[in-house]
Amino acid sequence: MAETLEKIKKVTPTEFDIHPLLASRWSSRAFDSKALTEEDIHVLLEAGRWAPSSNNLQPWRIVWGLKGTETYDRIFDCLVEFNQGWVDGAPALWLGAIKTDMKKGEKENFHALHDLGLFMGNVVTQAQSMGIAAHQMAGLDFEKAKKEFGFPENYHVATATAFGYYGGDPETLSEDLQEEELKTTRERKSQTEFAFNGNFKKD
Ligand SMILES: Cc1cc2nc3c(=O)[nH]c(=O)nc-3n(C[C@H](O)[C@H](O)[C@H](O)COP(=O)(O)O)c2cc1C
Repeated sequence: MAETLEKIKKVTPTEFDIHPLLASRWSSRAFDSKALTEEDIHVLLEAGRWAPSSNNLQPWRIVWGLKGTETYDRIFDCLVEFNQGWVDGAPALWLGAIKTDMKKGEKENFHALHDLGLFMGNVVTQAQSMGIAAHQMAGLDFEKAKKEFGFPENYHVATATAFGYYGGDPETLSEDLQEEELKTTRERKSQTEFAFNGNFKKD
């Protein structure tokens, strides 16, 4: 296990020093067999709960299930085939949804997706502090998930996330995904490509 963990530690070539929790996070697809507990999930939800949101509307809604439960299987069934191919070993799955309108439904909440992103930012950072990897997914059937879990019309299921402890065996993955899992260095655009101290510059 220590050997595997060492093998999948990634290099994050930061341009400036950042908090180790942020630099060490990456989206693993092979998880350790150690189960997550309901308590773990509540800790992650609590971290998300304290995220800021526009007008403190807290438009995020989460549906979660631990492996071996019916809810887990129902979430799994909403994922696209590609994600189902690797997610099977994940000890927990959840869906992230947003309430798309304001309090009385009088207008659209244009910041709801932003707020779900902030929520998830807290969640993945808290998970990292617990040795838990979080792999977020846009690859799911949004409409199916919305129907399956009884969300009303003014909600949108935006993402799914797989959670599990780091340290799974990459050999459980398909060849392509093993290669991805074992890549040693993480990649990002440089700051100069996305941040402008002045006018926007086209790529
Ligand atoms: C909103 C969102 C959707 C994503 N959708 C998928 C997905 O459907 N399947 C998948 O394997 N990875 C998915 N990813 C993972 C990204 O590919 C990954 O975060 C990105 O390559 C950066 O890698 P890192 O998280 O290891 O730094 C998604 C990530 C985010 C934040």
